[in-house]
Amino acid sequence: MKQKSKESVINVNHVRKVYRSKEMEYIAIKDISLEIARGEFVTVLGPSGSGKTTLLDVIGTLDTPTSGKVLIEGVDTSEMNDGQLSVLRNEKIGFIFQSYNLVPYLNVIENVMLPLMVNGNSDDEHRKLATLLLEEVGLSGKLGKKPTELSGGEQQRVAIVRALVNKPHILLADEPTGNLDSKTSDEVINLLARMSKENDTTILMVTHDPDLAKLSDRCVYMRDGLVEKEIRVRK
Ligand SMILES: Nc1ncnc2c1ncn2[C@@H]1O[C@H](COP(=O)(O)OP(=O)(O)O)[C@@H](O)[C@H]1O
Ligand SMILES: [Mg+2]
Repeated sequence: MKQKSKESVINVNHVRKVYRSKEMEYIAIKDISLEIARGEFVTVLGPSGSGKTTLLDVIGTLDTPTSGKVLIEGVDTSEMNDGQLSVLRNEKIGFIFQSYNLVPYLNVIENVMLPLMVNGNSDDEHRKLATLLLEEVGLSGKLGKKPTELSGGEQQRVAIVRALVNKPHILLADEPTGNLDSKTSDEVINLLARMSKENDTTILMVTHDPDLAKLSDRCVYMRDGLVEKEIRVRK
C-alpha cells in the first residue's frame, strides 16, 4: 500500500538565491536542499540574516530561486506561469508573515473568513471552524473587534487562524510566535502540531525559540545561507 505520510510535499533542490542591485550582490541562500514529507512539522532556526525568510519566500513561490528548483507536491514550480502559481498559493499554501497583514476595516471574524470568501468556500461550516480556531487561541471574546483594537499578540493570532482556516496542505510561518507570551506561544504551537497530525498539514516554521522547536518533528539549523545541521526530534 502507498504510504501517504512518506510522500514529499516540499522538495528544495540545490536552491541558490542571490539578491543583486547595481552596486552590490548578496548571496542570501548559497545551496540548500531539503525534503519535507506530508504532515511533517519542521522548524527552521538560525541567526538573523542566515536566509530563513528567503527560504520561506522561495518555497512559497513569492520569490524565484537564482538557480535550483522547488517542487511542491511533485510539481516543478519553475515551470508554472503566474496564474498557476497564484492558484497554487491560494489553494494549497497558508502564509503567516512576520507582519500580520490584517485588513484594518474588517473585524476579527471577517479577517479570518477572507481567504474562504476568495476561494468561494464561505459557508456556515467554515464559519464554525473559524470560530472554533479563534476560541482555541483565546480570541472568542474578540470576534467583532477591528485589528486596531487588538494587541500585537492578538493580531498575530488572528493572522495564524486566517492561515489555518482554509486547511492548507502547506503552512509557511515566519516567527509566528514572535509577539506572543510563552503561554500563548505554547497554545499556538500545540495548535499547529495538532493541525499537522490531524489534517496532514505540512508545516515549515521559522522560530528563535529552541524550546518551541523541540515540539516539532525536525529542526533545521541555518547559517550563512546553508543548512548547518538537522536534528530529528520525532521519527
Ligand atoms: N530583497 C533583498 N535585497 C537584498 N538583500 C536582501 C533582500 N532580502 C534579504 N536580503 C539579505 O539576504 C540575507 C538573508 O535575509 P533573510 O532571508 O531575511 O534572513 P533571516 O530571515 O534569516 O533573518 C540578509 O543579509 C538580507 O539582508
Ligand atoms: Mg527573517
